[in-house]
Amino acid sequence: MPVCRDEAQQFSARILAWYDHSGRHGLPWKHPATSYRVWVSEIMLQQTQVSVVVPYFERFIARFPDVATLAAAPQDEVLALWAGLGYYARARNLHRAAQQIVSEHDGVMPARREAWEALPGVGRSTAGAIVSLSTGQRHAILDGNIKRVLTRYGAVPGWPGRSAVVRALWQWSEALTPKRRCADYNQAMMDLGATICTRRAPACTLCPVSGGCRAYAQGEAEAYPEPRPARRMPVRHTRMVLLESERGLLLQRRPPTGIWGGLWSLPECPVDEELAAYCREELGLLIEPPVAWPSFRHTFSHYHLEIQPVHARLADSADRVMTGPETIWYNGASMPGRGVAAPVNRLLQHWQRGA
Ligand code: ADE
Repeated sequence: MPVCRDEAQQFSARILAWYDHSGRHGLPWKHPATSYRVWVSEIMLQQTQVSVVVPYFERFIARFPDVATLAAAPQDEVLALWAGLGYYARARNLHRAAQQIVSEHDGVMPARREAWEALPGVGRSTAGAIVSLSTGQRHAILDGNIKRVLTRYGAVPGWPGRSAVVRALWQWSEALTPKRRCADYNQAMMDLGATICTRRAPACTLCPVSGGCRAYAQGEAEAYPEPRPARRMPVRHTRMVLLESERGLLLQRRPPTGIWGGLWSLPECPVDEELAAYCREELGLLIEPPVAWPSFRHTFSHYHLEIQPVHARLADSADRVMTGPETIWYNGASMPGRGVAAPVNRLLQHWQRGA
């Protein structure tokens, strides 16, 4: 149990008192809150905001007032009334579930949470919401809004996409959900998440449970829930050569396709090649002993590029590099236009400042 009974009792009492004066009471699926109407609304609300759902809900219920009408309708008609809401698998599942209710439950809406969970498109939280909101029976729920409220209230660490974090949050939700007025409590928690405990800039001073909120006590409500961890991306390595002659630094224009296509860049020596040999063989230049600069990382969408800059002067003044449309000596005064890759620009500026 993440909280003691006293705290849970106080929590739900405050949530319910807040709901009585500040909750959303006029939502159409509450009048009346039959299990059919609550079910349809919960499926629509899974990925869509209340203000968008309301007119869709009203049109849907006007055309399909009960589960038998929905089950008997052609799928096209169900999808047509869903058009604009997106995530059409929700509509197909709703339709299939209606047919299952007719064929497997004699058209009687399930009463138990487990029976709801067996229907397509209905998970544990949605099943709990349908049963609690339509009958008042005690069932904990955990939708996206409530996950945010509870990660903050409990300062629950970790990204809530991880199953260990979800398990911890279910324990919080179970511990805090009251036996009495469970429908109002669940609705209140969703409303609190949508209107007070918002993702950005939560209105903690208006929150009825800020007094017990662990994240608020730490002064960092917005640090919860923790974001999804960055994807692990491969690291590639390259050496960028700052080859200096009296005329400046050697820049080459990259081929038109591939990374930095068409941009001006420094010659890149593969990390497993000997630098002097590379300069001699690829560029026709002899160099003095090179000096490594501190490496740094440039991040693309799919990989990190670890850049090892290395500075070397030409050993002979008679540079034999052809300067043409694809090769120039950059002297610090004449920028080769705007087409310079960001990490190259950083190195050029460093060089210019006399690093
Ligand atoms: N999101 C999911 N279910 C909801 C409900 N019943 N009221 C408001 N927002 C919701």
